[in-house]
Amino acid sequence: MSSLVIQGISKSYATQQVIDRLDLQIDAGEFVSLLGPSGCGKTTLLRVIAGLTYGDRGSVILDGQDITTLAPHKRNVGVVFQNYALFPHLNVFENIAFGLKAKHLDADSIQIQVKQALLSVQMSHYSNRSIAELSGGQQQRVAVARALAIKPKLVLLDEPLSALDRKLRETMQIELKHILRDAGMTAIFVTHDQEEALVMSDRIAVMNKGHIEQLDVPNRVYTKPVSEFVLNFVGLSAQWQGRVASIEGASMAIQTAEGLLRCPFEEHFEAGAMVVVSVRPERIDLKPVSEQISVHALGQTHSSTDRSYNRLHATVQDVVYRGSNTICYFKTAQEHATPVMVELSANVSFVPKIGERVELSWAVQDTLAFLAQPAA
Ligand SMILES: Nc1ncnc2c1ncn2[C@@H]1O[C@H](COP(=O)(O)OP(=O)(O)OP(=O)(O)O)[C@@H](O)[C@H]1O
Ligand SMILES: [Mg+2]
Repeated sequence: MSSLVIQGISKSYATQQVIDRLDLQIDAGEFVSLLGPSGCGKTTLLRVIAGLTYGDRGSVILDGQDITTLAPHKRNVGVVFQNYALFPHLNVFENIAFGLKAKHLDADSIQIQVKQALLSVQMSHYSNRSIAELSGGQQQRVAVARALAIKPKLVLLDEPLSALDRKLRETMQIELKHILRDAGMTAIFVTHDQEEALVMSDRIAVMNKGHIEQLDVPNRVYTKPVSEFVLNFVGLSAQWQGRVASIEGASMAIQTAEGLLRCPFEEHFEAGAMVVVSVRPERIDLKPVSEQISVHALGQTHSSTDRSYNRLHATVQDVVYRGSNTICYFKTAQEHATPVMVELSANVSFVPKIGERVELSWAVQDTLAFLAQPAA
């Protein structure tokens, strides 16, 4: 098992800065995903690590050895590309043996290492098959076996599952994770699919415009996004624009179109600051509006009784049944906003009807707030 340290890597193409002073440390045996939108520099970063291109500055250190300028074939890094890049004129065995022959291993060692690699991806019976006779999932496994056969210190996988249909993709996510874990492999996995990153990774590096915006375990990336970018890139959320009205110890009150919404106080906020308040759809509870409650001034009315919850009233716009859950879309006081979404698990007792008025509530602790980004 090997650790990887990337220090201050920058990379430009002509005038375009693609990677911007990027730092990343990966522990031995760890599975880290690079998650980010198209063009944010994920593939470029992998290519720098593999030695297929060089950074303009910074260093790449694998297992304590500086490999920044080392030729790709001397790095002992296995790469799985998006399209697998298998050689169509070679059979499965020859594809996997390719990198071993390049290392001038003797025939017996090649036999043994190819066999081991095929076994690890459960493809032992396919050794003599031609690539054209394999399904997408089988080709994907051969590509992984080829990367593992050289006994690399590190495996880099660039969107290796994107060509597969949804069901096979979900199966392969788990399978690939187990194959790499069983091999004790340190791995960097590129994806722009947030669910895939959440399912597979020990840690996720959320990338934006050539830098890492957040590097953390999946649970924290989802529940404690550090920026509006991460909030929006990973998962869904309801959001309101507002202004910090008051700071009251551990919480602060934000004036929004819905009235006051509360959220935990953090040091970088000050009274008057423009913020975005947010909550994840599965954190919101809903119940029918009781007739005694006024339809207006909701946040204020209820916050005086229980300040640990945010409450507001909303009208159901749509109810979408999705099997394992139901998503309700709401219209609230905020104009021109995208509808607020609430996720109901399959076993809830109350599912509202379209047009119904309901009360939404969620814990202040579950409320996220970010300083509003100035308009670009
Ligand atoms: N060889 C190259 N020459 C010039 N520009 C390049 C080259 N390779 C990449 N770029 C540019 O660098 C930026 C980052 O590209 P990169 O392939 O790293 O993105 P990515 O995050 O992998 O995106 P995707 O999710 O679409 O694969 C893009 O704007 C791309 O056009
Ligand atoms: Mg890419």
